[in-house]
Amino acid sequence: MEVFESQTDRCVYICAPMVRYSKLAFRQLVRDYGVDLAFTPMLLADSFSRSARARDVEFTTNAQDRPLIVQFAANQVDDFVAAASLVRPFCDGVDLNCGCPQGWALKEGIGACLIHKPEFVADLIRQTRARNPDLPVSVKIRIHKDTRQTVDFCRQMEAAGAAFITIHGRTREQRCQPVNLDVIRDVKQSLRVPVIANGDVKSLADAQRIREYTGINGVMTARGILENPAMFHGHLETPAECVQDWIRLSLGTGTPFPCFHHHLSYMCDRAFSRYDRRIFNTLSSTSAVIDFLRNKYDLAL
Ligand SMILES: Cc1cc2nc3c(=O)[nH]c(=O)nc-3n(C[C@H](O)[C@H](O)[C@H](O)COP(=O)(O)O)c2cc1C
Repeated sequence: MEVFESQTDRCVYICAPMVRYSKLAFRQLVRDYGVDLAFTPMLLADSFSRSARARDVEFTTNAQDRPLIVQFAANQVDDFVAAASLVRPFCDGVDLNCGCPQGWALKEGIGACLIHKPEFVADLIRQTRARNPDLPVSVKIRIHKDTRQTVDFCRQMEAAGAAFITIHGRTREQRCQPVNLDVIRDVKQSLRVPVIANGDVKSLADAQRIREYTGINGVMTARGILENPAMFHGHLETPAECVQDWIRLSLGTGTPFPCFHHHLSYMCDRAFSRYDRRIFNTLSSTSAVIDFLRNKYDLAL
């Protein structure tokens, strides 16, 4: 993919797929603050491919929203292929979620259980590429307990035609344990396609440190960029101008109030006292939120 080829002096900065959060307005915000590549939230390939309503509700984009990877969850190859064909004109690649550890997902046969089904995932990549030869297909995984299996899995995905692989360096059971950078480094050394490191990237310094240790081509961040959408511009906390930009962008794209408010809770968290947080959580209108933030930050609104 062009984004990996054009970036050689530093790693590629990537905004993670995040259910409820990595939607159009937030993707626009983080692109303005240095993100090179953004993912949509995980979309369910079966309902997406069958229901126009699901597509309208779940997927919004515009001409500036590039480069964009649309992530799907699937347990049937045909669903993924059909969903990929539908989004192809609006994106730069499609990704299969092989990392979601939640019980409901595992029960459905989607998410992290797919790291134990390499034949299925390889077939899905091959068939998607056969139907859409110019559309990059990637996978995002968690690591196996036996980390040699992760290297084998990734090799098989590369052989099947994966354009790049993102590795969240934790097993499906792990929540807060340190990210296993050694596995990510081993995979990087074993593949030719770009490898992306994910897990606990919260600053430019983290990105640099992980690149030096593993040699990866890109870093992906989820919680770090929710808390500080300006992290890739070198800010250690969300600056006031970024809060202001979020208000402008989210209101301009008709973001529903809960999403508008949740993002502000994350991005202002470090600036809020415990009392502020309590009050902020009770606010229930856009104007109340803006008034509250005007007193906290020097907003030009
Ligand atoms: C609110 C939230 C929503 C998420 N949704 C998705 C998703 O849709 N697809 C996915 O592959 N991972 C999802 N994840 C996992 C993240 O993409 C990422 O792999 C994980 O949080 C570790 O990265 P971090 O330490 O930067 O947060 C989500 C994480 C969070 C916090």
